Amino acid sequence: MKGKDLLSVSDLSREDIRSLISNAVDMKAGGWLSLLSGKTLALVFEKPSLRTRVSFEVAMRQLGGQTIYLSPAEVGLGERESVPDAARVLSRYVDAIAARTFSHYTLETLASYANVPVINALSDLEHPCQALADLFTIYERKGELNSLTLAFIGDGNNVAHSLLLAASLTGMNFRIASPTGYRVQDRILHLAQGYANDSGAKIFCTEEPRLAVSGADIVYTDVWTSMGQEAEANRRRQIFANYQVNSDLLSLAREDAILMHPLPAHHGEEVAEGILDSPKSVVFDQAENRMHLQKALLAEMLAGY
Ligand code: CP
Ligand code: NVA
Repeated sequence: MKGKDLLSVSDLSREDIRSLISNAVDMKAGGWLSLLSGKTLALVFEKPSLRTRVSFEVAMRQLGGQTIYLSPAEVGLGERESVPDAARVLSRYVDAIAARTFSHYTLETLASYANVPVINALSDLEHPCQALADLFTIYERKGELNSLTLAFIGDGNNVAHSLLLAASLTGMNFRIASPTGYRVQDRILHLAQGYANDSGAKIFCTEEPRLAVSGADIVYTDVWTSMGQEAEANRRRQIFANYQVNSDLLSLAREDAILMHPLPAHHGEEVAEGILDSPKSVVFDQAENRMHLQKALLAEMLAGY
């Protein structure tokens, strides 16, 4: 890894991603128990979570370590205590911090003042652990990453940003269909284009979901309203109304295409009722693979594996 922290997929090289996926395969096969004996991970969460919290907690326990969970009500980052002070105090107790913050800037401040590794457990800008587990899931299903085509339908959000960077690094073509005003950030697109120039990945942005999905190997979507944007939910429902992934849209993808979603899903909004139960859906593999991939990540970051 480039530094002590994982705040963005851009903290990783293509080789780092390949090695994490390869180690996640071993983890899933039941390897490396007790590797993190005596180590403690703090989970500092400003927003709710099911998958991220539970997968990190179980991952640490299965590797012989332990976790301390600090809930949104307990943290008070920047209110009860300044972020730099919280970072320096936590560094005296724990071996690593996984933080879920509203603002990515809070994460960057935590990381710059902590002298233990900080992992992005989701911010408004990125969700790198999700993207890494997703690439692992794609690799399991397709046996490769290079030259596949992923079509992301919907909001150019944190999940889209991390997937775009991860796909561009690993040579996977990335198409995204979003309404005007809800595209991925230019800064992330520019970074990804640089990676794509090296890896051979092709990036394509459009407003038309059918163009993005046509012939794709992977169809991916996420909620239209992310945590922290709840006040915009009604407006977003109208703006994204033509961006629902349903059987009609999915029929334009390859016959063997898979359907992905990080969960939680809003059934009947970004995904048609029942479609995540279809044989193409791999959403529960994605959720399970968060744990295996994060075990590989923790082994690397806390034990140099
Ligand atoms: N996919 C994901 O990060 O889920 P949680 O918000 O439940 O952690
Ligand atoms: N984009 C969603 C992802 C949740 C896992 C959010 O930030 O709420």
